[in-house]
Amino acid sequence: MPSTRSAYRCLNCGVEVPTWVGRCPACSEWNTLVEELTQRRQRPRSLRTAGPPVPVSEVTSCALEPVPTGVAELDRVMQGGLIPGSATVIGGEPGIGKSTLLLQAAGSMADQNRRVLFVCAEESVQQVRLRAERLGTLAAELFLLSETSLPEILAAVGQLTPAMLVIDSIQTVHDPDSGSAAGSVTQVRDCAQRLVQQAKESGMVCMIVGHVTKDGALAGPRVLEHLVDTVLSFEGERHHALRLLRVIKHRFGSTQELGLFEMTGSGLAAVPDASGLFLADRREKTTGSVVVPTVQGHRPMLIELQALVTDSKLATPRRSVHGLDGGRLALILAVLAERAGIRIRDKDVYSLAVGGVKVAEPGADLALALAVASAAAGRAVPPDVVACGEIGLGGELRQVGQIERRLTEAGRLGFCRAVLPRRAPDPGGSIEVLRVPSLAGAIEMLGLR
Ligand code: TYD
Ligand code: MG
Repeated sequence: MPSTRSAYRCLNCGVEVPTWVGRCPACSEWNTLVEELTQRRQRPRSLRTAGPPVPVSEVTSCALEPVPTGVAELDRVMQGGLIPGSATVIGGEPGIGKSTLLLQAAGSMADQNRRVLFVCAEESVQQVRLRAERLGTLAAELFLLSETSLPEILAAVGQLTPAMLVIDSIQTVHDPDSGSAAGSVTQVRDCAQRLVQQAKESGMVCMIVGHVTKDGALAGPRVLEHLVDTVLSFEGERHHALRLLRVIKHRFGSTQELGLFEMTGSGLAAVPDASGLFLADRREKTTGSVVVPTVQGHRPMLIELQALVTDSKLATPRRSVHGLDGGRLALILAVLAERAGIRIRDKDVYSLAVGGVKVAEPGADLALALAVASAAAGRAVPPDVVACGEIGLGGELRQVGQIERRLTEAGRLGFCRAVLPRRAPDPGGSIEVLRVPSLAGAIEMLGLR
């Protein structure tokens, strides 16, 4: 009989530690360790090999052909579609639209006469049917199962032999025969492992939903990342309609693609023109507003950055970021003070990327700095100008990649001028390039003093 022992596992990174500590020694997150009972292995498992080593050139290759789901943005992210026998985890906060996306993909697959088993472990089949009606996906080959027990799910898979299996969500699936507690990290990982194995054996596509919660109450997809072939992250702000589907890991291709959706009354719709959507409500000639041409994945996207500078009544003035990096704003404020003479130490500074999107690339530094300078001076940046460049601690501007694609997109949306670092390559096209060596130079040129 295997003996059980108690151990603690981090919900964030999955590391196992023998005793409870307040902070995970591996990922430094606080309060993420949970106790779990595991079965002690009797003897080390032998490493199984499938035969003698073979020269790589002599291995027969079997081309893995992706099957398009018909949901174009999902297929774009998966580089053509879903690979038979593969497993994918899709993570995201509750309410972001994971169930909706997978139900649309499942319905679309079923419409192509591929059998789909949708395991709705969180909702009743009636609830899912209602949603399927709303999405217009009442395909004959789409089967629903409201079940949380792993053996029952596997039995249904054996019976139906679906081409695609959706598990919504893995956190609610449990194995009554497993020694660990229901909902524990071990349980979630073991169930996922069993499903991944089943997918490989039967050649079905397995899509697994994994919730991420900020308080770490449930096992995040992190612990599943190693088990599956693809990890997707569905992001966005619940109060905005825009949703971004990113690839975090993909064994069958690049992780550079980005899918864009809009949550509508009848499900998720593709967003063909993201820049147009972001800039639709822009008020020109407002102080503290600058548009930056970013590249997200392979897609150029124009995003408006806004800043507001007001007198502060606080001992430590407020620095607020939304969709931007707080560390980056702090750096920019320091450079503005020391290298451009714009001192706003005693002011509150609010900044945001409009549209609920996250802008993480350093190429947005210049636009954010100009937005702050514009807000501080009370002078607007001309509405036909975009700005792009990374700011160094000396106040110098550094070039960023893919400038041509960024400016082509800016030109398409009617922008005429671009403020760029001095050494930026010539982008060609119709946009007039305003080259500046430093942040101070850009501020002078735009008259933001
Ligand atoms: P859901 O897919 O249930 O999110 P998740 O599985 O990630 O928790 O979708 C949640 C939200 O989407 C919900 O608040 C309602 C909204 N929604 C729409 O706006 N339109 C729709 O057609 C559907 C199905 C959902
Ligand atoms: Mg859901």
